[in-house]
Amino acid sequence: MSEPIVLGIESTCDETAAAIVHGRELLSNVVASSMEEHARYGGVIPEIASRAHAEAFVPCVSKALADANMTLADVDAIAVSAGPGLAGCLAVGVSGAKALAWASGKPLYGINHVIGHIAVTQLQFGAFPPDTLALIVSGGHTSLLHVEDMPRKIDVVGTTLDDAAGECFDKVARLLGFPYPGGPHIDRHAQHGDPHAIRVPQGLTQGKAGAAHPYDFSFSGVKTAVARWVESEQAAGHDIPVDDVCASLADSVATVLARKAMRGCEQYGSNTLIVGGGFSANSQLRAKLLEYGEKHGVEVRIPQIKLCTDNGAMVAMFGVNLVEAGVAPSAPDFAIDSAMPLTKVSM
Ligand code: KG4
Ligand code: ZN
Repeated sequence: MSEPIVLGIESTCDETAAAIVHGRELLSNVVASSMEEHARYGGVIPEIASRAHAEAFVPCVSKALADANMTLADVDAIAVSAGPGLAGCLAVGVSGAKALAWASGKPLYGINHVIGHIAVTQLQFGAFPPDTLALIVSGGHTSLLHVEDMPRKIDVVGTTLDDAAGECFDKVARLLGFPYPGGPHIDRHAQHGDPHAIRVPQGLTQGKAGAAHPYDFSFSGVKTAVARWVESEQAAGHDIPVDDVCASLADSVATVLARKAMRGCEQYGSNTLIVGGGFSANSQLRAKLLEYGEKHGVEVRIPQIKLCTDNGAMVAMFGVNLVEAGVAPSAPDFAIDSAMPLTKVSM
């Protein structure tokens, strides 16, 4: 069979997206976001997001097909994010994808959105080398994976014991008064601050806890330390040096992620590190990973920003992997899984 053509559909959170991938080539990529509708509430409101998905689904899919100069008849398969994510949002994308699959007679794959975040790197850097390490940093996930054979053998090496890195940024951002999502605001302010201005702890890197959890992460202590510091400065009547707070936070988080990822590469004999997830758009993390990669002789594959945040290309690309690997399509009545574990690549 020639290289598969897959339509990918995404609706886990506040982005409705559709894309067409042919082999490892991106033919179209359409994203509609309801982010602005949530900003004034300080977080994603599931009911608003679900309604926005219902409105954007048909226009997004139609445009993705039109941009690729195709109709549904031209695709070999359809892939859709089946989880993890907001249940009502997933239900819209999955129901829509099932309708398209039923009407066109095409096989349908309900895929794991989080794994999609690393799969997408193939569009930019080509296939995964065997036995590689992957760092996933999204809003809800911070995990190190050992990808022995994509997509057949993927093991979790480490994960966050509490908050994800993105979550930690979003919480500190809220404290500093930035609108949702706060991560990009911290990034921007951090670019003008001193990363060593404030001492921010690096969770699970030292002593017994560090030894017991060499590849796990903990960011809730980081968040608490920054919050305490800000509160005590405010109580003392001092102005908060926002840029310095952001730079110190970003440096601490990026350093822990880069160190643990490099250690994992050493342990698993991988000279490639695949990075994905919304938080991989963070410029401090990107710089730190590239710097550490250079030092350790590891090629770091971080996708361009538009492929880091939620999109349909990641879903379509992962669909191509499943088709190529001969994985059976999902049953027509497969359910969504809002808490889909990393150990499950598809339904
Ligand atoms: O992967 P993603 O788009 O959504 C999930 O699947 O969870 O990740 C969203 C997360 C949010 O926490 C957001 O604040 C963070 O990624 N983020 C950033 C940046 N861009 C997005 N965090 C820091 N710096 C950025 N430039
Ligand atoms: Zn995501």
